[in-house]
Amino acid sequence: MSPMSSLGSDDWQLVAHVFDVKPGQVIKVVVGKDPVCLGNVDGEFLAIYDICSHEYVELHEGWLEGDEVECPQHGSKFSMRTGAVRGLPATKPVPAYETKVEGEHVYVRGPVPVSSS
Ligand code: FES
Repeated sequence: MSPMSSLGSDDWQLVAHVFDVKPGQVIKVVVGKDPVCLGNVDGEFLAIYDICSHEYVELHEGWLEGDEVECPQHGSKFSMRTGAVRGLPATKPVPAYETKVEGEHVYVRGPVPVSSS
């Protein structure tokens, strides 16, 4: 587990209804005690840790571009799939979480081991 993550959850947690986050949007949800940024990428739900690895800024306040979220403070980009950095000034990835949809409900668990890709 990442040192940035407090607890997370090994169990699937119901975090949202599919209509809570529209395509191209990101919202904040909580998994365990972790703030998590949940995004809808063309109907696919993806989740990463909500706090930028550069400074303490919430990523869900930023913008989704394709499968990347852009930090609202200095513009770093993170992959919504892996948490990998796709744009400076941040240099460290953020944890990514597993997601699944059952019916109209979105579930998240994790975080999963950090990827650098
Ligand atoms: S706080 Fe996110 S890029 Fe600086």
